[in-house]
Amino acid sequence: PDVAPTVRDAEALRVTITAGPTHEALDPVRYLSNHSSGKMGYALAEAWARRGAQVHLISGPVSLATPSGVERVDVTSASEMLAAAEHAAAESDIFIGCAAVADYRAEHIAEHKLKKTDAHETLTLTLVKNPDIVAEIAARSPRPLVIGFAAETQNVERYARDKLTRKGMDMIVANDVSQAGLGFGADDNAALLLWRDGDDTDSQALPPQPKTTLADAIVDRVLTLYAHRAP
Ligand code: CTP
Ligand code: CA
Repeated sequence: PDVAPTVRDAEALRVTITAGPTHEALDPVRYLSNHSSGKMGYALAEAWARRGAQVHLISGPVSLATPSGVERVDVTSASEMLAAAEHAAAESDIFIGCAAVADYRAEHIAEHKLKKTDAHETLTLTLVKNPDIVAEIAARSPRPLVIGFAAETQNVERYARDKLTRKGMDMIVANDVSQAGLGFGADDNAALLLWRDGDDTDSQALPPQPKTTLADAIVDRVLTLYAHRAP
């Protein structure tokens, strides 16, 4: 089988990656979340570590083993993930937001288990917006090179381009999660990379492939961008 040669071309780089979902508690026994498996973020952490980078992985709740050589910090909620990300970003050259962060959390977390009552056939939850972690990191000065992801089910390129600009990121990895067998939970993924080149946006389409090889292709592009980054 083809084994990619390990080129230690990321040596001396400090890379922080967020991965997995977040859990937003409703009460002591329940939470809001999503289907993120963490596989893409973990594959990226593994790829960067193999190439010699110092990797800091901020992980939501997932059932994956920590890649060898990676320093992992476990978090549960988006607020905890932001705190860990801000702490790590100050000492990072590259920040990759791969986590599927819950967009909203409960306004109040009930102290005790919410009880079902005979009086109510419906239950209304009030949710408040979570902080946007990649946007917060991108707004810092000085800041690392910032890469985000966009999982879309339609208008992939337009929505991704919009996120790239709105969040002030340097590059975005866009996935069409409506394609069967790709993206959420799957071992394979395809991606459209979009990055800024002065006032223009440049792009590269990566065909469906295992998340492990896709991770290496993303690392290649990020290293090129990092090398060309204005000092
Ligand atoms: N992201 C983040 N913090 C959030 C929400 C998203 O850091 N609170 C990051 C994700 O890690 C990803 C990027 O922003 O890198 C895009 O996430 P996505 O959910 O696609 O974008 P949203 O801006 O939340 O838009 P929507 O869910 O409405 O498509
Ligand atoms: Ca979102």
